[in-house]
Amino acid sequence: MNILVTGGAGFIGANFVYYELKNHPEDRIVCLDKLTYAGNLQTLDDAMKCSNFRFVKGDIADRECVFKLFEEEHFDIVVNFAAESHVDRSVENPEIFLKTNILGTQTLMDACREYGIVRYHQVSTDEVYGDLPLDRPDLFFTEETPIHTSSPYSASKASADLLVLAYARTFKLPVSITRCSNNYGPYHFPEKLIPLMISRALADESLPVYGKGENVRDWLYVEDHCSAIDLVIRKGRVGEVYNIGGHNERTNLEVVKTILRLLNKPESLITYVTDRPGHDMRYAIDPTKIHTELGWLPETSFDEGIKRTIQWYLDNEDWWQNILKGDYQNYYERMYSNR
Ligand code: NAD
Ligand code: TYD
Repeated sequence: MNILVTGGAGFIGANFVYYELKNHPEDRIVCLDKLTYAGNLQTLDDAMKCSNFRFVKGDIADRECVFKLFEEEHFDIVVNFAAESHVDRSVENPEIFLKTNILGTQTLMDACREYGIVRYHQVSTDEVYGDLPLDRPDLFFTEETPIHTSSPYSASKASADLLVLAYARTFKLPVSITRCSNNYGPYHFPEKLIPLMISRALADESLPVYGKGENVRDWLYVEDHCSAIDLVIRKGRVGEVYNIGGHNERTNLEVVKTILRLLNKPESLITYVTDRPGHDMRYAIDPTKIHTELGWLPETSFDEGIKRTIQWYLDNEDWWQNILKGDYQNYYERMYSNR
């Protein structure tokens, strides 16, 4: 199989590239990535050494670039990870989210129609379902939960999902969609909660917790997300949506305190800052469908995964220090200085 992985220089895409190279050495992987602030070619250093891997720098919304690549490669499967992915940035400037996340998806699917593929897979998020109230722990997102978005980010991801389903119905494009809960693990960009808190705690800097820290996220170790996508693209039914999550709900404060405990740092580093506008209260996935249809189950508990993640950040300080030294520092000042 010749597989196009878009956004493979980012967090989940890179983990997926390595998962495929390890588990399907017979396949060829081509990564198309624009290398935005979130894309890091250093992450793909080891993949570059594999003869069945190719990296191409380009924008999924650039029609000429995408069509040329499809003409050259004749892909069997396309897995679209490429996206603007940070909610806070979407509050600051929604436009690029609409361009990449919606128009980029359209461009990729147009190329799929033109050149033919076996499967177009859209990597989506549980955020398309909006949020759940904190006082109803019995409620979970299923694939039937109505789309109900809160942020420009989730609205752009939901729009892309609707477009994917429209292409399936109108043009009979063989698509699938997965909607996953919050991921964590190696190569996670240090603007997101877990790597941000690890890197700042290691430097004895304050840890900015939004609001009261009571919002709940359903954390999934990134490798478990990769194994689920791998199953869906190879064995999942065409036209279907599959939710992915592992019943690992934690409040943000619990997550931050766990990180501090494991790093042996004081809780006095926690600083409560102004809440995110429109902040979703709770995400929680019901993964029954992917479990019963495809036999998928997550392998890594949160307690185990967070230890592994912290160890990875300790062992790979160069990787995240390089990011912190660059343009990212300006972002941090902008986002947090008046909070
Ligand atoms: P990320 O921000 O770490 O990486 C995104 C990658 O896409 C980067 O390498 C970036 O350079 C690339 N990119 C951005 N715009 C591009 C464009 N126009 N053309 C080509 N490449 C472009 O994101 P992530 O956390 O790895 O998320 C990957 C996907 O998974 C996204 O679609 C996201 O919505 C989805 N998702 C993420 C999570 C999570 O917890 N991180 C959970 C569920 C779903
Ligand atoms: P984030 O990692 O941005 O993922 P998402 O918003 O997509 O769930 O944030 C996870 C949770 O952590 C979310 O409730 C917002 C909160 N948060 C903080 O409290 N402080 C921070 O500095 C960041 C980045 C997030």
